Amino acid sequence: MAGEKVLIVEDELHALMGLAELVSGWGYRTETARDGAEALDKVMAWQPGIIVTDMKMPRMDGIELLNRLGELPDKQCVILLTAQGSIDRAVEAMKLGAYDFIQKPVDPTRLKMILANASRQRETELELDFTRRRLRERGVLGSLVGSSRKMQDIFALIERVAPSNVSVLITGESGTGKEVVARTLHELSTRKPKPFVAVNCAAIPETLIEAEIFGYEKGAFTGAIERSPGCFELAEEGTLLLDEIGEMPVGTQAKLLRVIEEKRLRRLGAKIEKSTNVRVLAATNKDPREAVDDGHLRADLFYRLNVFNIHMPPLREHKEDIPAILEAILADMNEKHERAVTGVDKEMLARLMSHDWPGNVRELRNTIERAVILCGEGQLESRHLPPGFGERVLRPSADDAASANSVQVEVGATVDEAERLLILKTLESTRNNKTRAAEILGISLKTLHNKLKEYGSASFASAESIEERV
Ligand SMILES: Nc1ncnc2c1ncn2[C@@H]1O[C@H](COP(=O)(O)OP(=O)(O)OP(=O)(O)O)[C@@H](O)[C@H]1O
Ligand SMILES: [Mg+2]
Repeated sequence: MAGEKVLIVEDELHALMGLAELVSGWGYRTETARDGAEALDKVMAWQPGIIVTDMKMPRMDGIELLNRLGELPDKQCVILLTAQGSIDRAVEAMKLGAYDFIQKPVDPTRLKMILANASRQRETELELDFTRRRLRERGVLGSLVGSSRKMQDIFALIERVAPSNVSVLITGESGTGKEVVARTLHELSTRKPKPFVAVNCAAIPETLIEAEIFGYEKGAFTGAIERSPGCFELAEEGTLLLDEIGEMPVGTQAKLLRVIEEKRLRRLGAKIEKSTNVRVLAATNKDPREAVDDGHLRADLFYRLNVFNIHMPPLREHKEDIPAILEAILADMNEKHERAVTGVDKEMLARLMSHDWPGNVRELRNTIERAVILCGEGQLESRHLPPGFGERVLRPSADDAASANSVQVEVGATVDEAERLLILKTLESTRNNKTRAAEILGISLKTLHNKLKEYGSASFASAESIEERV
């Protein structure tokens, strides 16, 4: 970019002047500073896009400068000048977010190339920023849609915490978009090019969860035939989402806390620890404070994860977003199923707006997916809604023991419907203890989990329609 501002930081005056002259000669605007502290002042006052800085300087060195720059809202491309033999520190600096480094004595051709790349990178970032702002004004942030006050507040919070490394606890009912929030936090951070790994603590049997999260060495336990990395290692330099954190065994929670605090990890059966650099996010659809009170969630882990809390509102509390979310879902579904649905008619929209959405956006998504498949093209109409849609959800009352502990299925129901009903009833009887329910049902926890995901809350409608026939 012509006229990009470059700040040059170097304690040795002669080298500083030489560099400034060189860089100005290439068409950049330049300013100079003699150490990190002076550089910080200049950054605030002059707002350069690129900083070329020496590593070893009095008062504040290059690493410290990088750290301090990381705390500022505006991001710069930092290029480090390193003395020979200090590659280790340069690599450490890259991990802290430096853009690139170049060895001294500076090779002008190489510096020119790095500056050109950095300048191009700045340009795309600024464009992205601009597009993001435009989209945001239209109610879109990543894959999240919503212009309501509630969603806009969430967007602002996400944008504020995304660039930092703090842990975030994402709460909210099932299907409200907690995982989408986690992905968005990752995508708006510098960790974006690195992996985003989501692990569902409720879908892994207790005996395997530590192996899954921390990894294991060959022979660490019966069945450990090969060494295997855990989620932490898979997410190295990226983001790890621990979903349904309250379902993680308390003993594992203690280990997890240690890994987060010490940023060191030991695979099961391993002798040595390794350092880890992972941003940890967690999600739960239960009230975390209640989970702490009833002993499902360790208080110390809760405080560690809850540095920031993002609470997703249930869809019924921001119904004004339904039309926009609907539009996004329609576009998705048309593509996924190769359909050409153009919208929904008035009557259907009215029914969507008056529904209570116990399964939140996931239920909306499932409802629309079904309708799109049925309809194919043109406008969706009420007849494309599932039978019993929007009617009161029937739940067995406490004094109705028979219906609480049994399912009755009439001939005419499909096997899928019967299965769904049985699964939901079993879960109810285990008070939502999925491990126990899977045992009773004779299916794996993973299968149970997949089924529940598949149902979303569209299951309420079907479960209810069967119950009504009973
Ligand atoms: N605001 C939103 N805009 C667009 N799509 C959304 C929004 N919120 C959720 N979705 C969609 O709804 C579905 C459910 O979202 P997600 O899986 O993130 O929910 P969740 O809160 O993690 O649920 P659970 O507690 O059951 O895991 C996804 O398909 C997601 O793409
Ligand atoms: Mg989820």
